[in-house]
Amino acid sequence: MYKEISIKDLKVGMFVADTGLPWIEHPYLFAEEGEVATQEALDRIVRQGFQNVVVDTDRGSYEFGRVHEPDVLGQTDGQTFAPNLVSIEEEAEVAQQIYQDSVAFAHDFIRSAQTDGTVDYEKSGALVDDVIQSVARNRDALVSFSKLRSYDEYTFTHCINVAVIAVAFGQFLGLIPERLKPLGLSGLFHDLGKARIPPAVLNKPDKLTDEEFEIIKAHPLRSYQMLKEQQAVGPDVLRGIVEHHEKFNGKGYPRGLSGDQISLFGRILALADIYDAITSRRVYKESISPSKSLKIMFGMRDQTFATGLLTSFIKFLGVYPVGSLVRLSDGTCGVVCESNPYRAHEPVVKVAFDADMRPAPIRKVDLFKAHMSKGRRLEITECLDHESYKIDPARFLLGDEGNS
Ligand SMILES: [Fe+2]
Repeated sequence: MYKEISIKDLKVGMFVADTGLPWIEHPYLFAEEGEVATQEALDRIVRQGFQNVVVDTDRGSYEFGRVHEPDVLGQTDGQTFAPNLVSIEEEAEVAQQIYQDSVAFAHDFIRSAQTDGTVDYEKSGALVDDVIQSVARNRDALVSFSKLRSYDEYTFTHCINVAVIAVAFGQFLGLIPERLKPLGLSGLFHDLGKARIPPAVLNKPDKLTDEEFEIIKAHPLRSYQMLKEQQAVGPDVLRGIVEHHEKFNGKGYPRGLSGDQISLFGRILALADIYDAITSRRVYKESISPSKSLKIMFGMRDQTFATGLLTSFIKFLGVYPVGSLVRLSDGTCGVVCESNPYRAHEPVVKVAFDADMRPAPIRKVDLFKAHMSKGRRLEITECLDHESYKIDPARFLLGDEGNS
């Protein structure tokens, strides 16, 4: 079992695992694989200033005793992760239905926000409950399907995607369901105030004028006011909403809060909001692959996002998020179908193509297990653009292909 611990808890005899995440973890994570053999070696690691390390509790000479197992709902310290209860294929149909119902609901509440401003809170609560339950069964299904199927109407899908990603990430962080519900509601309604911004401004492909930017900048506060007037949601929901455009460096809006002044909900929504925005196709830009999007976001560390929470977000999605089309080191290609939070670069891949991208017999390969059992390293060498190969990754996850 792999376990990420603070460097100050590292002991002689523990076995350090190589996470293989140089661009994400360096310089925070010590990842030189092998047993910490001596006190001198341990002192040297500590002196080098690393903060965390992943240890393999099944290897090395250190006696761990009973290792803490994550409970089913993920109420953990954020270092151990709830296992998937069902496979992504088993959850696919339910997740798709939840997603479609959610988008239909988004049409309703955005339309009413444009007119009388009322929102059906009972329905929104039930919907967030469905999302929480789906994520508890399988952490990848709803998140990946929200990004895979092409739903063209960004206005209606974005609020759902942010709610789904925020809830799934919150569960990953170990938030209890009672906290996940307000977090999901916060995601659902974060942009409600945009409903009354003229579409010409909202969808403008060119640079905004100062006046137009002021209109845009007013939307978090407007969302907050619209919901507060109806007195149906709690202060944590409102705070997440009003703070979703604040930045770690204090250069966000509306209040220019920085660092820990920004609530956890505000910081989670900011990550979910930007991730969905980058990965979505818009009138003025193509979609960017999840993997590349995360690299872009990593470039925003210590500016838009605190590095720690951003790193957790990348671990949550995986370096190659579910649905990514990838090439392996033996040349074969396939679709990532399950993330591995402990080994973000070694997910489970459904191999479906040969080196020339011709269909091949489909087989599931757990890159971590393949690595451990065969001794040779089968790894992802390339993330491919599924659109240029005219491949729909969703059909490999939904059970249409290779799930006999
Ligand atoms: Fe926004």
